[in-house]
Amino acid sequence: MNILLTGGLGYIGSHVTVVLAEAGHHVIILDNLHNCKIEVLDRLAKILGNSPAFIQGDVRNQLLVESVLKDQKIDAVMHFAGLKAVGESVQKPLMYYENNVGGTISLLQAMKSCQVKKIVFSSSATVYGIPQYLPLDEKHPTNPESPYGQTKLQIEAILQDLARSDQSWKIIALRYFNPVGAHESGLIGEEPNGIPNNLMPYISQVASGLLPKLKIFGNDYETPDGTGVRDYIHVMDLAEGHVCALNYLYNNESEFSIMNLGTGAGYSVLELVKLYQKVSSRKITYEIAAKRAGDIAACYANADKAAVHMVWKAKRSLEKMCEDSWRWQSRG
Ligand SMILES: NC(=O)c1ccc[n+]([C@@H]2O[C@H](COP(=O)([O-])OP(=O)(O)OC[C@H]3O[C@@H](n4cnc5c(N)ncnc54)[C@H](O)[C@@H]3O)[C@@H](O)[C@H]2O)c1
Repeated sequence: MNILLTGGLGYIGSHVTVVLAEAGHHVIILDNLHNCKIEVLDRLAKILGNSPAFIQGDVRNQLLVESVLKDQKIDAVMHFAGLKAVGESVQKPLMYYENNVGGTISLLQAMKSCQVKKIVFSSSATVYGIPQYLPLDEKHPTNPESPYGQTKLQIEAILQDLARSDQSWKIIALRYFNPVGAHESGLIGEEPNGIPNNLMPYISQVASGLLPKLKIFGNDYETPDGTGVRDYIHVMDLAEGHVCALNYLYNNESEFSIMNLGTGAGYSVLELVKLYQKVSSRKITYEIAAKRAGDIAACYANADKAAVHMVWKAKRSLEKMCEDSWRWQSRG
């Protein structure tokens, strides 16, 4: 099948490119290079033996997207393109709504006019907000705490309305928990601009000496060791979930579905630090700092729905996530 990946040169899209290409699909990437490097294309070529098709452009350019959908005879779209920094979204909400919500509407208009009606959307567990119970299943109430989370929830609502209006759409929103790790070749991985916002890239930069120490925000949460607990999922498990989602779109009647992609297990910051020290043989210096407003004690998925309906389950351990992250971080 011909699959268009918007934002396909980014962290998650590049790993999904590998898995889709290895499953025999033809991948076409559209990315405006806002948060990725063009070299990712060469690295993908090294892994795959040839380079995926790439178009530099913006999802908000409806005419461009229409021409790509037609020229490349696209069967389905995976929509990764978006801005994802929670803190930045608080500072620049209009930029987030414009790019994430506006970009998705423009993409959907283009898809509608070209009669391409299958889409997998990158949503986030951040739509749940503060957990009322754990593990979080898809029925848990949604109440995102940031403009970024709001954009994800609004896009889900748009997708649901669209599917209700025309049952020939097949749409799935995947709510990712905390993707970490890298492809085991060490050729692609997460490459944050500036100081990382997420824990694993931060730890990996402390391990490699790029950053002096890790700040752990709060050690008196109601968790086994007092530090925050999250559901880390290997990015390759997440990527495989997209192939299962594609199969689901083709083999299921449902017009609109939401699925959690997580492991179902929570690990604390300190557990992650200890394991990363072990796999990297480096000391990770840390200090305990005050809790941040809005941070939650624990968050992990109930991933049963994806297991039952998409026959997908995360397989890789936390140790494997750390090993693959470290191989990527310590590349030459
Ligand atoms: N990484 C995570 O922790 C996480 C968690 C939950 C959800 N998500 C979502 O998954 C998706 C992919 O995340 P990621 O970690 O790979 O992010 P990323 O920033 O690495 O990748 C996103 C890609 O989209 C591109 N892009 C952004 N706006 C665009 C536009 N208007 N037109 C074309 N390209 C555009 C960027 O250049 C980048 O390459 C995002 O939508 C993100 O919100 C990510």
